[in-house]
Amino acid sequence: MKLTIVGGGGFRVPLVYGALLARREQLGLDEVVLYDIDEERLTRIGYVLDGLAAEKGVALPFRATTDLVDAVKGADFVFCAIRVGQLEGRVIDEDVPLGMGVLGQETTGPGGICFALRTIPVMTKLAETMAEHAPDGWLINFTNPAGMVTEALQRVLGDKVVGICDSPSGMCRRVAAVLGRDPKELWFDYFGLNHLGWLQGVRDGTGAPLLEELLADDAQLERFEEGRLFGGEWLRTIGMLPNEYLYYFYYAADTVNAIRTGNPRGAFLLQQQREFYARNGASPAAALADWRATRHDRERTYMAEARNAAGQEGEHDIEENSGYESEAMAVVEAIVNNTREVLILNTANRSALPFLDERAVVEVPCVVGRHGPIPMAMGEVPAHAASLISTMKDVERTTIEAALTGSEQLAIRALALHPLVPSVTTAREIFDGYRRRLPALEAFV
Ligand code: G6P
Ligand code: MN
Repeated sequence: MKLTIVGGGGFRVPLVYGALLARREQLGLDEVVLYDIDEERLTRIGYVLDGLAAEKGVALPFRATTDLVDAVKGADFVFCAIRVGQLEGRVIDEDVPLGMGVLGQETTGPGGICFALRTIPVMTKLAETMAEHAPDGWLINFTNPAGMVTEALQRVLGDKVVGICDSPSGMCRRVAAVLGRDPKELWFDYFGLNHLGWLQGVRDGTGAPLLEELLADDAQLERFEEGRLFGGEWLRTIGMLPNEYLYYFYYAADTVNAIRTGNPRGAFLLQQQREFYARNGASPAAALADWRATRHDRERTYMAEARNAAGQEGEHDIEENSGYESEAMAVVEAIVNNTREVLILNTANRSALPFLDERAVVEVPCVVGRHGPIPMAMGEVPAHAASLISTMKDVERTTIEAALTGSEQLAIRALALHPLVPSVTTAREIFDGYRRRLPALEAFV
């Protein structure tokens, strides 16, 4: 089996490689290829991987390349996590709307639209390269904004592209932990789009309504991130547990105020990651220790803006084996071994959410086997969630069209129709702000 990682010099690649090390035999891995446009980043991460292999005392040879065709040719699985425009681009995505008092965040709000405008054309090229050189391969996409990117690529690869996010499974694990249960025993009724989903029920084998009991118990809600963030009162008002990214919708103004007085996420990461990648020449063991310390700092500050806005002092709970690589491995294992495991993934709706059409990419529980993910029928959902999903799906599709055609009119339309952008005038100003600072948008007419 050949597995390729596009964005092979990326910061989270060691998580994936560590998971592959543990499963190399079950998966029958013959070849692991890291592809990146930046050779120096590949080298730096390569040392970290060497450090991991030495620590575990097992070998899983990998090779690095900057030739995309060589990387994907004949691949069975391609993992892709890239950041087009790098962290410098993320800073701009966040900064421009914040200057106008609008949420600046990399996937939610105008920032996500701008990020998608420059990412979708690059990802479409990858999909076309795969269609030509790895027609039987699966593309496991982590690249954000993951829902929009996956929907755009389904036009080229159909169901062979699967979008992954670790937020839903992370929330399910946190809920299970608070309930003192093994998540594998529970059914999680989760639905939505990427970074725009809700948990509307949790059941065990007896059918007991576990979520209702949890939402009624403030002490239990205090014990996990989403419970603390949204607060019991609001959770009982909507009767569901929202994905952490919905904080930016429900508490948009609070977040904008909190970010304006603090350090935006992108700016923090730009500095932190620059320093990490600039330190080199180290032994594999030292590179690994440095990566671990940097990762720890990145994770503990994750979503700090939302916590600040909610008036909380704590840090993000760090999981040793984060959901990021576990989700990817679970998908590969389910496909390779036809396990029919239930995983929450981004795939075409079929009829999972009856108010959307078949091709709309949604994030719902799927049964995953040799033929990929089959979404489960979620049926009716509360009206406010259905209408926000429908609005955002239209914004996403308008963004995809804008990205593929380079249309300024469509880009402004997507920005203006986004619920977090207060007026058409603001949408125009945001677009002009982006175009002035991002070379990728210069050609939009
Ligand atoms: C979560 C989200 C991802 C996001 C990641 C890193 O896992 O689901 O979509 O990329 O966090 O966020 P950060 O702010 O550290 O880049
Ligand atoms: Mn995500």
